[in-house]
Amino acid sequence: MSSFEKKRSVLITGGCGMIGSNLVKRLVKNGWDVSVVDNLWRGKTEYLYDDGKALIDLEQKFYNVDLCDPDACEKVIGSTDYIVHLAARVAGIEYVFENQSDIFRMNNLINSNVFHAARKKGKDRIKGIIYVGTACSFPYNRQNTLNPEPLKEEELFPAYPESAYGWSKLIGQLELDYLEKESGIPCCTLILHNAYGSPTDYGDRSQVIPALIRKAVNFPNEEYVVMGSGEQARAFIHVDDIIDAIVLALDKGWGKGYIQIGPSYCTSIREIVEMIVGISGKNIKPRFDISKAEGNKARCADYSKAERILGWKPKVGLEEGLRRCYEWIENNILEDGAKRNV
Ligand SMILES: NC(=O)c1ccc[n+]([C@@H]2O[C@H](COP(=O)([O-])OP(=O)(O)OC[C@H]3O[C@@H](n4cnc5c(N)ncnc54)[C@H](O)[C@@H]3O)[C@@H](O)[C@H]2O)c1
Repeated sequence: MSSFEKKRSVLITGGCGMIGSNLVKRLVKNGWDVSVVDNLWRGKTEYLYDDGKALIDLEQKFYNVDLCDPDACEKVIGSTDYIVHLAARVAGIEYVFENQSDIFRMNNLINSNVFHAARKKGKDRIKGIIYVGTACSFPYNRQNTLNPEPLKEEELFPAYPESAYGWSKLIGQLELDYLEKESGIPCCTLILHNAYGSPTDYGDRSQVIPALIRKAVNFPNEEYVVMGSGEQARAFIHVDDIIDAIVLALDKGWGKGYIQIGPSYCTSIREIVEMIVGISGKNIKPRFDISKAEGNKARCADYSKAERILGWKPKVGLEEGLRRCYEWIENNILEDGAKRNV
């Protein structure tokens, strides 16, 4: 790019979260002009640093805005060419099932405000919107057997997700479809399977992998309890693979409908536990608590559409990805402990 060419600009909503902060890092590296909006409900601005240096100018390019507020949302949407919309209330299964009405309302407000603001700016201003859906939106009855056939995008309907989270993310997909048809703004929805990586929340609201890693790091001070039977299985996907998919979609994903991102095989929680315990090197005997929610039985992705359209396939092996995530969480817990003892 010559120094006279304008950089492509992108606003990443939820840019302080796990996926968002990794995307900021990659797009800055690739020469994009990146802005971030996040209300820090779960993300952290410290995730926007690399080797002690801020990835973007936090004074000018970071907006601490709650996207549930339509006026505040309108002020930040439309200042960039592209929007990658990642902001959402997303959390571990216990939080999701105990806060269904709240999650439903928040995610619908966030999505609707972002899409409405984009529609008002129009296609002359906004060159494209990427949204991320979730595998939790697939019908419940397609996820209630072990060893299922990989899901295909067209199986989303007729819809019957298990949770309010799944419904809210699906309704966002529908709203974006209407927006695309009526406004002419090019759009793309990537349907993500279970993502993990770092930086990540590993506290009370965290998802299964970071929670299981935290318990292993803290063991024996924290009991190693696993929610559910351990038989439930998911298609786990490392955040680096998701970032590859989003970067490819910014180039080739427009107007192609829903594209699923995840591996074509399931891994049970019991297998994840065994791998994490192996990485910890500790003599941990897990307790499986079947009184706790474990969600759908199993699901995985037929990612042939992603392969065909984006040229995408997963690259990071589970063992390698878990090792990296373990190392990051362990370092953070040790640093936190050290800070508390100062
Ligand atoms: N992690 C997964 O397994 C997974 C799977 C499928 C889809 N997704 C989707 O990917 C996206 C990113 O997820 P993630 O794993 O990085 O989660 P995350 O919680 O790390 O990131 C979401 C970000 O949105 C922010 N946010 C929440 N409410 C907001 C609001 N009202 N206004 C502004 N910002 C707000 C949070 O502070 C957080 O930084 C979400 O849309 C999620 O639904 C995630």
